[in-house]
Amino acid sequence: MRIPLQLFTSSGDQIGRSARAHVTCRYKCGEACWHEPGNSSDNPYFRDVLRASASRRAVLRSSAGAAVALGATSLLAACGSDSGSSTASSTTTSSGDSALPGMNFAAVAPNTEDALIIPQGYRQDVVIRWGDPVLPGAPEFDFANQTPEAQAMQFGFNNDFAGLIAVDGVSGHHYLVCNQEYTTEEFMFPGYTPKEPSEQQARISMAAHGITVLEVAATPGSGSLTPVVGQRNRRITASTPIRLTGPAAGSAFVTTSADPAGTTVLGTIANCSGGLTPWGTMLSGEENFNNYFSNASTVTDPATKENLERYSFEDDGDYHQWGRFDKRFDLAQEPNEANRFGYVVEVDPHDPASTPIKHSALGRLKHESATIHVVQSGSDAGTVVAYSGDDERFEYIYKFVSTRKMKTGLSATARAHNTGILDEGTLYVASFTGNEPQAIDGSGTLPPSGSFAGTGTWHPLLTVNPGGSARSHVDGMDPAQVAVFTRVAADKAGATKMDRPEDIEPHPRTGKVYCALTNNSKRGTEGEAAADSANPRNENKNGQIIEITDNHTGTDFTWDLLLVCGDPAEADTYFGGFDKTAVSPISCPDNVAFDPHGNLWISTDGNALDSNDGLFAVALDGDRRGETKQFLTVPVGAETCGPIIDRDRVIVCVQHPGELDDHSADNPASHWPDGGTSQPRPAVVAVWRDGGSPIGV
Ligand code: FEO
Ligand code: CA
Ligand code: CA
Repeated sequence: MRIPLQLFTSSGDQIGRSARAHVTCRYKCGEACWHEPGNSSDNPYFRDVLRASASRRAVLRSSAGAAVALGATSLLAACGSDSGSSTASSTTTSSGDSALPGMNFAAVAPNTEDALIIPQGYRQDVVIRWGDPVLPGAPEFDFANQTPEAQAMQFGFNNDFAGLIAVDGVSGHHYLVCNQEYTTEEFMFPGYTPKEPSEQQARISMAAHGITVLEVAATPGSGSLTPVVGQRNRRITASTPIRLTGPAAGSAFVTTSADPAGTTVLGTIANCSGGLTPWGTMLSGEENFNNYFSNASTVTDPATKENLERYSFEDDGDYHQWGRFDKRFDLAQEPNEANRFGYVVEVDPHDPASTPIKHSALGRLKHESATIHVVQSGSDAGTVVAYSGDDERFEYIYKFVSTRKMKTGLSATARAHNTGILDEGTLYVASFTGNEPQAIDGSGTLPPSGSFAGTGTWHPLLTVNPGGSARSHVDGMDPAQVAVFTRVAADKAGATKMDRPEDIEPHPRTGKVYCALTNNSKRGTEGEAAADSANPRNENKNGQIIEITDNHTGTDFTWDLLLVCGDPAEADTYFGGFDKTAVSPISCPDNVAFDPHGNLWISTDGNALDSNDGLFAVALDGDRRGETKQFLTVPVGAETCGPIIDRDRVIVCVQHPGELDDHSADNPASHWPDGGTSQPRPAVVAVWRDGGSPIGV
């Protein structure tokens, strides 16, 4: 029997309000939500615009009234203000003995606290925060006296993806691999004038980007992790040499005055989600790279201009202003530099001296991530499939199928072989067809079958052969063009425009692929693509989770929507068929991961339901499929990233705490994690159960 948990907030007229602060959009994505989408292609799918009628929506909301009445919930219990190993909770009723393994915790209620709120019986501690030492000799963080040199040795700003990779031969030690997506200069420097950094500030910002490799030691009987500041650690910044491979490398599109060979890029930026490979490396997706470049309007060559527009380059989006001090980021001086970002970056933490790689065979887009499935049996056993989403409104979902087969083990020979896997194979883009397209009117009303579902096709774009020769599958484009202007190739292939594909990840046991489609306020609006079965709501504020059952090495798949997110009291939400009176509200899904029991975990960015963002567990199978429970919420103004869920701990990256409009370092909205009158600092947090018992059982 399903027992209602009464987890709702009664968000009333707040529903639909976007919660991401304008300041976050400025620095993270160049105000993408305030501009037209970069995809103006008129591909063959869902060309007609359907508008949901206001009266229809009003009727739907009215019918949800009974459920809203259940939505009252108590607000918070007091939370531990000292973030050191304390408990903090704001919980509803426990899920009881019938909860699925991994989901047996008391759900955290929606809230707007300036604290990391976790379930009763759990503890938390910061692993590392912005400015903490990473490299030997790094100084302690000094907010008032920051330097580029210190920052390049310290943990960067705005952590996003996190992964743990075992250190060979050192029991209980891991590499914590973590990327640092972007900087918000107004929150880093007192007295900062937007768009007018000093050179010192710009160079600190560059050093605060990139990727960190940090050795951490586990504490027996606890989930806490302690940094080891030693020789295994590494900072990769906006200036670190990175090797470009695949068809883009050496092409006329990527040569610059500093790199006439077109094979060595300095730095990685805008890293969002990522993944770990079975061969012991980290993959990180370069996402909103466009808003680091100035003077897009000075480009006059029509083809170059068109390609810049397809990737949403605009003069007014560059809030970092690096181009004033480094000509690489000035399109008037180095127009090709823009083509050297937007790739999947691979880092081998086992070798701190190794050169990271940008794999252009996986295409150039606003990669949210790249995550790996390895075929386990049959003639394709060992084939590697990498999935990636392109996070912008109306962009696409991609996969790469390797030609080379993975060698098992972590020997140097195996690692060298496997690191080349992502350079040989075929890149595809997806189109989605609904089983009942005639029933989709943009309101979110379920089709007659009771769920959104359909079939799909992977369209080949590019094949790179062993040895490096390559073949384009797109008329009028050569392999280098497909690798560099992948969005243009995907337009021509007839891909389906999606509601901002964020993190995508194959389930480690079932192989089913889960993608967070975070939101799309433009869906179904005038001149834009209409709602369709996979993106069923106009002006979609809350997002959905799509489940793809893929023929991994083939070109066909089936799909359905696991969640259509939002307030469960609203008629336009769907929780896998589970009782909507017994789920946590969830909005704007972003990163996805799996626990050891096979449950899906989702972190959110931009909750539009009047709560801070959070981390949720979702049941995938059986009669509890779609059950959704909030495990934690992050402090005010923050986005929940990471995450990692293993037996002993949950790790989240708390990105941009306190980042609210009308606030800054001069007027902080958050004092997390250090409390008092301190400045907010993005940080990685570990959460574990009292006594070290497994998470959620
Ligand atoms: Fe950096 Fe798509 O979120
Ligand atoms: Ca993200
Ligand atoms: Ca993930």
